[in-house]
Amino acid sequence: MIDETQSTPQKLEATLPRDSYTSPEFFAREREGIFAREWVVVGREESLPRTGDCLEAKVLGESLIIVRGEDGALRAFFNVCRHRGSRLIQGSASDDAAGVPAACHVSKAIRCPYHSWTYALDGSLKAAPFLEEALAGRKGEFELYPAGVESWGGFIFVHLEPDAARARGHTLERQFGSSMNLLKNYPLADLRVGKRVVYEVAANWKVILENYNECYHCAGVHPELCKIVPAFRERGGAGLEWEHGIPHREGANTFTFSGTTKRASFPGLDESEKIRHKGELIYPNLMLSAAMDHITAFMLFPQLPGHTTVVCDFLFHPGEMAKATFDPNDAVEFWDVVNRQDWAICERVQRGMNSRRFVHGYYAPMETPSADIRRYVRERLGDAVIK
Ligand SMILES: [Fe+2]
Repeated sequence: MIDETQSTPQKLEATLPRDSYTSPEFFAREREGIFAREWVVVGREESLPRTGDCLEAKVLGESLIIVRGEDGALRAFFNVCRHRGSRLIQGSASDDAAGVPAACHVSKAIRCPYHSWTYALDGSLKAAPFLEEALAGRKGEFELYPAGVESWGGFIFVHLEPDAARARGHTLERQFGSSMNLLKNYPLADLRVGKRVVYEVAANWKVILENYNECYHCAGVHPELCKIVPAFRERGGAGLEWEHGIPHREGANTFTFSGTTKRASFPGLDESEKIRHKGELIYPNLMLSAAMDHITAFMLFPQLPGHTTVVCDFLFHPGEMAKATFDPNDAVEFWDVVNRQDWAICERVQRGMNSRRFVHGYYAPMETPSADIRRYVRERLGDAVIK
């Protein structure tokens, strides 16, 4: 049983049970109940600057095409030919490749490699060789299956069931709720990826989100990070006020080994944001960490119950990137150390949870924000599937 008193701050509370982190059946339920019903982040708009630029994104086994149309708009389609079901484009070299969205270019049309049925960038069927007569007046029946696509802060979100989302008014804005406000001063849409690092993590996607959501582990796992942000190791990470930003140590203002950088702060930040660190978790698969000069964006792509691909993009201001002296590595190398510490500890959790003696874990009081994941999952899958 799950403790119902999840808002009580002073006691240990049960986490979700083992199966929700380890079983293929539960993972399949999450695919239908969460990832097919939510807006899911898959990439950055900047990777599709021109007409015909596209992105193949995989969302728990579904392959989608996101393409920039002749009108400049982004559209998303299922990567399935209406004729015989062939995959239309293959952005990555192998279908077994992890879930990293792969960029491609289709010029003015999407042509199926099987029988050359050809679709315009708006998804309409343009041509099917030798079938003009058979398709006369019926081409409208053979448009590509649409998926939902929306942008926020330069991030592309897709929805596998756009009609159902529309019917229940489930817009991206509604999904975000108040998450849109915390980083409103950061010029997210203007930023560009200065570096991408892809991690394959042998842990359930929820383990990674929960780990991101608490700093009880920071003192033991992240010595370098705690040097820059001593508040992370005080009181077991309790009482961190993320809405106001977390202070660095005196003289530090960003996430690098020195706590400083040559990069200027983003335009538009308030005085507090120029010296403090903010973070946000946008369910189900985007984690954002905001320094005054760079944003670290983690996109999670669950592959298996115990395997998640994490695409980590480092975003910088184009004005800084244009400078001859621009070098993202002070941030990237620092984060790589912190990230690998996190992934290693998440993998240990995953291995430990596989034990037959593990029934569920406990959230400590200072981990309360991560307790949200129980509510998040239960609201979408129902109590009945979480025993
Ligand atoms: Fe961590």
